[in-house]
Amino acid sequence: MEYISGFSKLSKEEKIGWLSNNYFQNAEKAKELLKLYWHKDEKLQQLHDEFSENTISNYYLPFGIAPNFKINGKAYVIPMAIEESSVVAAASKAAKFWQNRGGFKAEVLNTIKSGQVHFMYGGNPEKLEKFFEENKEKILSSVQHLTENMEKRGGGLLGIKLKNKTEKLKNYYQLDCSFETVDAMGANFINSCLEQIAKTFKTLSLAKENFQENPIKIVMSILSNYVEECVVKAEVSCPVEKLMKNPEEAKNFAERFVEAINIAKVEPLRAVTHNKGIMNGIDAVVLATGNDFRAVEACAHAYAIKDGNYSSLTSAEIKNGIFKFWIEIPLALGTVGGLTSLHPLVKLALEMLDKPSAKDLMKITAVAGLAQNFGAIRSLVTTGIQEGHMKMHLMNILNQYEATEKERQKIVEHFKNDVVSHSAVLRELEKLRN
Ligand code: MEV
Repeated sequence: MEYISGFSKLSKEEKIGWLSNNYFQNAEKAKELLKLYWHKDEKLQQLHDEFSENTISNYYLPFGIAPNFKINGKAYVIPMAIEESSVVAAASKAAKFWQNRGGFKAEVLNTIKSGQVHFMYGGNPEKLEKFFEENKEKILSSVQHLTENMEKRGGGLLGIKLKNKTEKLKNYYQLDCSFETVDAMGANFINSCLEQIAKTFKTLSLAKENFQENPIKIVMSILSNYVEECVVKAEVSCPVEKLMKNPEEAKNFAERFVEAINIAKVEPLRAVTHNKGIMNGIDAVVLATGNDFRAVEACAHAYAIKDGNYSSLTSAEIKNGIFKFWIEIPLALGTVGGLTSLHPLVKLALEMLDKPSAKDLMKITAVAGLAQNFGAIRSLVTTGIQEGHMKMHLMNILNQYEATEKERQKIVEHFKNDVVSHSAVLRELEKLRN
């Protein structure tokens, strides 16, 4: 085990050599495995290498598709990049279920994002307020060169407010800016604008006598990933009796379903798992379409606690014999810029979705989350989660024990009528091998 300086300057081969020699017992085997995952097309490999620093290989995730989604009357095949074995299957099943029950309806409620210049100021708040109001126009026009292109596309910097946060933290203020970034996720655009705003604000203040004694100290300028005003709603609904063939079973199912959602509304221990299931669907689409799943995750969970208690992102009700199930979630997504124009599979995913606008992608992604949650809750309140989950996990267990094709076929057949568990699969394998 070693430390190293100047690692990023080494060639890829040198990096692998250093790593393998210092951190693996069998250096050759480690090198070989890393190279096994290189793409044979050198140009494509280079593209992937350059997405990030210190890339030594590729990390594959399954790229799957969930067909049969009907969203606002239109058919979609949804691309999903995810390793958890039952997620794509559950999404596909939910899509099929709702296809004949009116499909999914989705609408974008708003698309505003924000960013803040965080600064400290120990002087008179009124003087600061006056200075801000007098110079607001100058500050806004100082970003004109950055917002020009975005404005042509229908977006831009929408507004700027001075916020006094000194009750939370001594001397703390913000310039709170709102943005419309249209089809871009907008992080770079927002951050560039904010840095310029901070610079102009500081420079203008330096010329004022008032601020000599109590200068404005810019701490940082950064977008907020909490996009509480960039929200999409997706829903499904149908008469309760249409949920299942048997009307009594349908009624029981709908009631248990609503109860399960209501439990997740009030009990954080359940809500976290419940929302995790929703994010199984959402993250998979976010990843497949080259978006930032960390930003989406961070925001979704903050939104889930907006009323003070961590709660479910989905809701359900039965009213006048109609079962309704919906999600409301903030999603900052882009369909231009970033990976969307670089990663060949991301481009393919977007084409599969009929080259969506960011708003379209928000709807599709929210639907994937809702479908995922529907699948999970349906299993949980009926068969239990393990039946479907373990069936999908069967292949992973067989791979772990390096089952042959013949063994696989026999075992898959066997477990068509039996509950899958790790030990049961092992038992069957041993039986076959003896
Ligand atoms: C597993 O990845 C997700 C679930 O736990 C979600 C849920 O419990 O609702 C099945």
